[in-house]
Amino acid sequence: MPQNLNINKPANKKPTVALVGAGSLATFLAVALNHAGFKINEIIARDSPSSRRKARQLATKVGAQAVTAHSAGLDATLLWFCVPDHEIRRAASTLSDHLLARVLTHQKTIPRFALHSSGALSSRELYPLRAAGVMVASAHPLMTFVAGAHPYLYGFQSTVPFAIEGDNAATRLARQIVRALGGESFELPTARKAAYHAWATMTSPLLVAFLVTLEEAASAAGFAPEDARRKSLPIITQTLANYSRLGPAKSFSGPLIRGDAETVRKHLEVLKKHPRAREVYIALAKVALRELPVKNRDDLKRLLHETAS
Ligand SMILES: NC(=O)c1ccc[n+]([C@@H]2O[C@H](COP(=O)([O-])OP(=O)(O)OC[C@H]3O[C@@H](n4cnc5c(N)ncnc54)[C@H](OP(=O)(O)O)[C@@H]3O)[C@@H](O)[C@H]2O)c1
Repeated sequence: MPQNLNINKPANKKPTVALVGAGSLATFLAVALNHAGFKINEIIARDSPSSRRKARQLATKVGAQAVTAHSAGLDATLLWFCVPDHEIRRAASTLSDHLLARVLTHQKTIPRFALHSSGALSSRELYPLRAAGVMVASAHPLMTFVAGAHPYLYGFQSTVPFAIEGDNAATRLARQIVRALGGESFELPTARKAAYHAWATMTSPLLVAFLVTLEEAASAAGFAPEDARRKSLPIITQTLANYSRLGPAKSFSGPLIRGDAETVRKHLEVLKKHPRAREVYIALAKVALRELPVKNRDDLKRLLHETAS
């Protein structure tokens, strides 16, 4: 369950937050942080009409100001960058320039911490802000955020993990915020981030790509995508439940575990008209031969080898 945060001792207050960006993650975080009692001061957008409009919509939801880097008050304790990975360094440099300009004119600079949420990139992307005295970290939630869905970070069965790395004080703050949101943190060394994110990409984005491939296979049997989706959801859901409770080997059923090579030959024959689905079928059947309890392994191996060549 989410817990209380106690970062600004002795004032005993939660840090105020400015979100940079108003896309999928920012939309989720703004609402979740707001519910957890964090004050969102600003949503910082790019200087284009559509970006400012999105920032205004999000700011209205959580009682924040929609601003650009030029008009930002930068009066929050924490800057949380929710921009695409390739924009993080540029956005950090821009805000760092604004903060440094304040230092030069002896104005107070307020942000003490900055986070980004890239799974692949390290907190080094935020190093431009260190020149302005800001401590930096990355905090990546292993969860998918899309428009129209608001996932829970904690639930009956599971808690969403956040991979954290960076400066000590900033990672400490990140862990406290994650706990306040109901998630759980784990430390991820910088050197492992790219591999971690390759895995993370397979858990959801490429899983969706696989589900789209299923629709193509279903079309070979004459089912429209919506119908295929509806008809296949019960078996997909049950498979995930089995995988979670029993592990992969005990969740494995179908022609490969039975050693029905002739059935597999028929599949490969009808999928010839759907080469993309066939390619995925063969790649996954090879994984099954390597990793799962398959009968008649030699015949199946030969069959997959012959048909693939
Ligand atoms: N979505 C997820 O499921 C998810 C999960 C875990 C981690 N993350 C991480 O979260 C970060 C954001 O991803 P997202 O999916 O939320 O991306 P997104 O939906 O594409 O949103 C990106 C936002 O950043 C804004 N932006 C781009 N450059 C900017 C700049 N220089 N200054 C201010 N705003 C700028 C974009 O606004 P305009 O284009 O309108 O200007 C847009 O509002 C990424 O690092 C990603 O790896 C995402």
